[in-house]
Amino acid sequence: MDNRSIGVFDSGLGGLTVLKAIMELLPEESLVYFGDSGRAPYGIKSRESIVKYTFQDTRFLLSHDIKMIVVACNTASAYGYDLIRHSFDIPVVEVIGPGAAAAVKATRNRKVGVIGTPGTISSGVYGKAINNLDISIEISFKACPMLVPLVEEGWWENDIALRIAEEYLIPMKGKNIDTLVLGCTHYPLLYNTIFKVMGEDVKLVNSGLETARAVKRLLEDLNIRNDGKNKAEYRYFTSDSVEKFIELGSSFLGRDIASAYKVDIEKY
Ligand code: DGL
Repeated sequence: MDNRSIGVFDSGLGGLTVLKAIMELLPEESLVYFGDSGRAPYGIKSRESIVKYTFQDTRFLLSHDIKMIVVACNTASAYGYDLIRHSFDIPVVEVIGPGAAAAVKATRNRKVGVIGTPGTISSGVYGKAINNLDISIEISFKACPMLVPLVEEGWWENDIALRIAEEYLIPMKGKNIDTLVLGCTHYPLLYNTIFKVMGEDVKLVNSGLETARAVKRLLEDLNIRNDGKNKAEYRYFTSDSVEKFIELGSSFLGRDIASAYKVDIEKY
């Protein structure tokens, strides 16, 4: 047993979809969340910048008393996970492996689609993770840069969201995939819209949910679950406006964020 918190970071607000999945699956665990909204989006930045940010975000979380780090951002997982895993002495969970494994399990016709930020898609990491598990799987990729600003605008289920999703996804549907990995923190919020475009024959993999399951497995393997005797505590930090984080973050999380604190992340 270990009652310290789990540290979770993302480029901004999207990682709250991963946090939400962890809260629901592991309600006894205390969590520290850092959203780097001041430097978001990561998905269109260079590899150098993303690696630098990933190290700073990790060092910030390590300044708290934590037992595990969750890289909730797909783009940071794609470029930074391997580096931080070998640089810090703490268990680290990322979002790509769990999403890839769930897709391999779900596909019947061995045709899988992956959507994500331009950074995540061009890293090739999802393709490697899926084909390492099953080389015979044919993968179609699509970078969907407009989906992140759409979600940030709160346009999750309107006509514009549907139109943009169609533009990105109809060519992928034409490739006869039966499984689609939502390889970006923001996409679970577009679940209904993406479902409408892809139809009920295509299984949508929410990598946030899969990551929460991976966190649970690792806590159990390491025997470091919270004993659940005290109520879980949630602390939120952002590198941008606290007011904006609280307002938008509460809608991403689907529950009220009572307070958040501003961080000067360049100090880390
Ligand atoms: N968190 C990012 C991801 O999952 C999406 C937002 C961004 O580009 O910063 O890749």
